[in-house]
Amino acid sequence: MLKLKNTLASMIKDAADALWQDNGLTAEEIAAMLEYPPDETMGNLALPCFKLSRTLRSAPPKIAADLAAKIGESDIVEISVAGGYLNFKILPAYLTASVLASIEESGDAYGKSEMGAGKTVVLDYSSPNISKPFHIGHLGTTVIGHSLKLLHEFCGYSCVGINHLGDWGTQNGKQIVAYRKWGNKEAVEEGGIDELVRLYVRFHEEAEKDPSLNDEARAAFTALEHHDPECIALWKWFIEISMQEYQKTYKQLGIEFDSYNGESFYTDKMPAVVEEIKSKGILKIDDGASIVDLEEYSMPPCLILKRDGSTLYPTRDITAALYRKNTYDFAKCIYVTSAGQSLHFAQWFKVLEIMGYNWAKDELVHVPYGTVSIGGEKLATRSGNVILLRDLFAQAIEKVREIMAVKNPDLKDSDEVAEAVGVGAIIFNYLYNSRIKDINFSMENALSFDGSTGPYAQYTYARTCSILVKAADLDLSGEASLTMPEEATLLITLSKFPEKVLDAVAQYEPSVITRYVIDVCTAFNRFYQACPVVTAEDEQVRATRVRLTRAAGCVLKNALHLVCIKTPEKI
Ligand code: ARG
Repeated sequence: MLKLKNTLASMIKDAADALWQDNGLTAEEIAAMLEYPPDETMGNLALPCFKLSRTLRSAPPKIAADLAAKIGESDIVEISVAGGYLNFKILPAYLTASVLASIEESGDAYGKSEMGAGKTVVLDYSSPNISKPFHIGHLGTTVIGHSLKLLHEFCGYSCVGINHLGDWGTQNGKQIVAYRKWGNKEAVEEGGIDELVRLYVRFHEEAEKDPSLNDEARAAFTALEHHDPECIALWKWFIEISMQEYQKTYKQLGIEFDSYNGESFYTDKMPAVVEEIKSKGILKIDDGASIVDLEEYSMPPCLILKRDGSTLYPTRDITAALYRKNTYDFAKCIYVTSAGQSLHFAQWFKVLEIMGYNWAKDELVHVPYGTVSIGGEKLATRSGNVILLRDLFAQAIEKVREIMAVKNPDLKDSDEVAEAVGVGAIIFNYLYNSRIKDINFSMENALSFDGSTGPYAQYTYARTCSILVKAADLDLSGEASLTMPEEATLLITLSKFPEKVLDAVAQYEPSVITRYVIDVCTAFNRFYQACPVVTAEDEQVRATRVRLTRAAGCVLKNALHLVCIKTPEKI
């Protein structure tokens, strides 16, 4: 549809230039004004003429009528006027010759663009804190982040996915103390991350009664900072155990990272950065701590060093951003975290700007998402108000298995399919809402497979595949011909995919894609209900419908992959 929008825009521009001299309108402006009418009976695209009324000094209905008369006949659209709107109905011949042909030609590449060619985007996402279990609070950053990576790659950027592990802080000291007091090697080897969590929870319970444990934890972290070999060995071991657990989840989600350089990676790089902040004259001592004052920007100060000289979360982020800029020369560095961290990012982005790094202003992007709660309560590992991702996925997979055992007991690769559908259901459910919306997580909702869900989308894709298997021997050559309105609507829906990709990237919003997937499913299923495909009598009509089915399958597959969802051919 992008191509058509541009073609129409230049047609309109030519007509406008002939009618109104020096009107100052550009084809780009006109293309941006073209919209999709909510009711397609009038047309598939419309130019609202209201905004033009001032510049052209004429009433909107008159502008529309004049333009229509000037453009006259066209072999790609039928033009009509309704009030202040100039309406365009796309002619079937254009849909088949342009839209269908371009989907068929591009295949897996349909929807791709070269927008980002030669540019690098760094994406910092998932980034769990070591020794904590992976729970639904991490689902957002992980799937939004990965989807944004896939979307940017689809637009030609070269992408670097970084898992900025939370592996350096007092919590690591707490873990060491807890292990020494109440843990042992066998139990950790046996219980893995669950045992680490048990120890962590125990630490907090005991510290309530005996606050001196917190001092011990701080001391253990200081020992870690001073490379105490025993502390380092324990810390490394805890990371390894945590990573084994995280990797299982990443594998189910189909995610790999390009770098696991977490917070600890920056320990030896921070002193130089702190020196630099100091040398630029913006480091202030406040009650013993070192800060950068941000009052002028209506923000609380950014903490750089604690009173005891140890570094903080923002210190590590500032250092990491400089390191990444030097290493990857990024055009953008995107951070995906819950909206609860928005202030943190705004603060340290500003510090870099004050340090004179102008790129920080446009190239560092924080992409926040809404908080997740369960039963209206905040998530909390310590009190147990969490749902672990592995349990959530397991339940979804189990539910799919039960349904499949009834509906399709002989399915080959049923384990793989059940995992793709179960995990896909959870991802789709999460990515269906605009990211900034707070979520009160409900297991029932996530495991409901009716309506606008992942399983519905995957099932629709599988349906396209099974039709194609039946049509395998048909001759699909010859000119396509559309005979039913549902066919045209399907093609028009498919033609919007490249624009949706650009929208999703511009807004950092995977829900643009999930919503679009449902539009495609609806259009395809309406088409399928109204139009017999392999049983259509006319050869030409049959071949066209098979090609439409293949095109719908192609778009569904491309779109679902952009939101981390697999597309089994049989379900
Ligand atoms: N580890 C942090 C957390 O769990 C998220 C890190 C996000 N990335 C960053 N560069 N600060 O809250």
